[in-house]
Formats: sequence, structure tokens, C-alpha cells
Amino acid sequence: MKIRRIRPGDGKRLAELLYSSVHRLCAEAYTPEELEAWAPENMDPRKLSRSLLMNAAWVMEDMGRPVGFICIERDGYINRLFTHPDNVCSGVATALLNTALDWAKKRGLKRIFLSSSRVGYGFYLKNGFHVCGVERVERRGVVFENKVMERFI
Ligand SMILES: CC(C)(COP(=O)(O)OP(=O)(O)OC[C@H]1O[C@@H](n2cnc3c(N)ncnc32)[C@H](O)[C@@H]1OP(=O)(O)O)[C@@H](O)C(=O)NCCC(=O)NCCS
Repeated sequence: MKIRRIRPGDGKRLAELLYSSVHRLCAEAYTPEELEAWAPENMDPRKLSRSLLMNAAWVMEDMGRPVGFICIERDGYINRLFTHPDNVCSGVATALLNTALDWAKKRGLKRIFLSSSRVGYGFYLKNGFHVCGVERVERRGVVFENKVMERFI
């Protein structure tokens, strides 16, 4: 397994990963309408790629196949963390989170934070985050109530 920075051209495979992560791992926690609003079938890979390249983002690969990715903004906001459903509970998200954490520390940031899905919540608690608020996020007309979680570093 290897972690590297995301490059232009990764968009299509990461959009597929994001889609299967949401639709397979979150199916019990969200309605089909919510899943489709969060990760639509017709997601634009170029848009995803642009958004990842604007920030700091890494992908973990297993023999060249992406198994997870993370994206963090300059202020320490983690805007995406997804593991491929075939690779859950094998330390992928933890390794990616540690990579983003090192990057944030090197930049002198004092905390990292995020808007947690219902599925991510237990993972983030386990990784030293605590809840510091609640926010309503609108995606394609569907409103999600997420927990805002932070970790001081
Ligand atoms: C949440 C997510 C990123 C975790 O990825 P992962 O690669 O399976 O996580 P890891 O293997 O690094 O897990 C590390 C530890 O957290 C635990 N863990 C993983 N997911 C968990 C969850 N949803 N709830 C509670 N604990 C969880 C693991 O069991 C493991 O524990 P251990 O160290 O005692 O064995 C993954 O489930 C995912 O992509 N979910 C769908 C998308 C999503 O909700 N992303 C978060 C957006 S805010």
C-alpha cells in the first residue's frame, strides 16, 4: 500500500470510489434519496478533481488501485475521507488521516475539523475528535444534519 498526492487525471477513479463508498457503506444510515444527493451517479469527475487539486489531497493505492482518499483545506477542514468498501477496517482511513494530520502540523495548524456523516462518526471518535457543533448541509436539494467534530493537534 502506498500513499501519494492526488494528481490531475485521478478524478474518474476517485469518483467511482466515492460513489461505491457512499452507496455501499452508508446504505443503512441514509435513505436512497440521501445517498443519491450525496453521491450522484452522474458525478462529474473533473469537478471532483478540481476540488481535490485546489486543496491538499492524498490517495492510498494497493498495486495501483485506489483504496481510499482524503482532502484537507488550508484551514484544517477535512472535506472528504472515503475508503473503498472492499478495504474497510484495514487501516486505510487511519493512515490517510495521519498523513493529513502531519501536513496540518507542518503548516502550524492547531486543530483539524470536519462535518461528520453518521457513518464516519464512530471512526472520528476513535481517532481523537470530539463534537463541537451541529450543522445543516444542503446537497442537491437534500438537507443533511451533520455533527461538526474537531481534534486539537
Ligand atoms: C468512515 C470510514 C472512512 C472509515 O474507513 P476505514 O478505512 O474502514 O477505517 P480504518 O480501517 O482506518 O478504521 C480504524 C478503526 O476505526 C474503526 N472504525 C472504522 N469505521 C468505523 C465506524 N464507522 N464506526 C466506528 N468505528 C469505526 C475500525 O474498526 C478500526 O478500529 P480498530 O483500530 O480498533 O481496528 C469508511 O467507513 C468510509 O469511507 N465510510 C463511508 C464514507 C464516510 O462516511 N466518510 C466519512 C465522511 S465524514
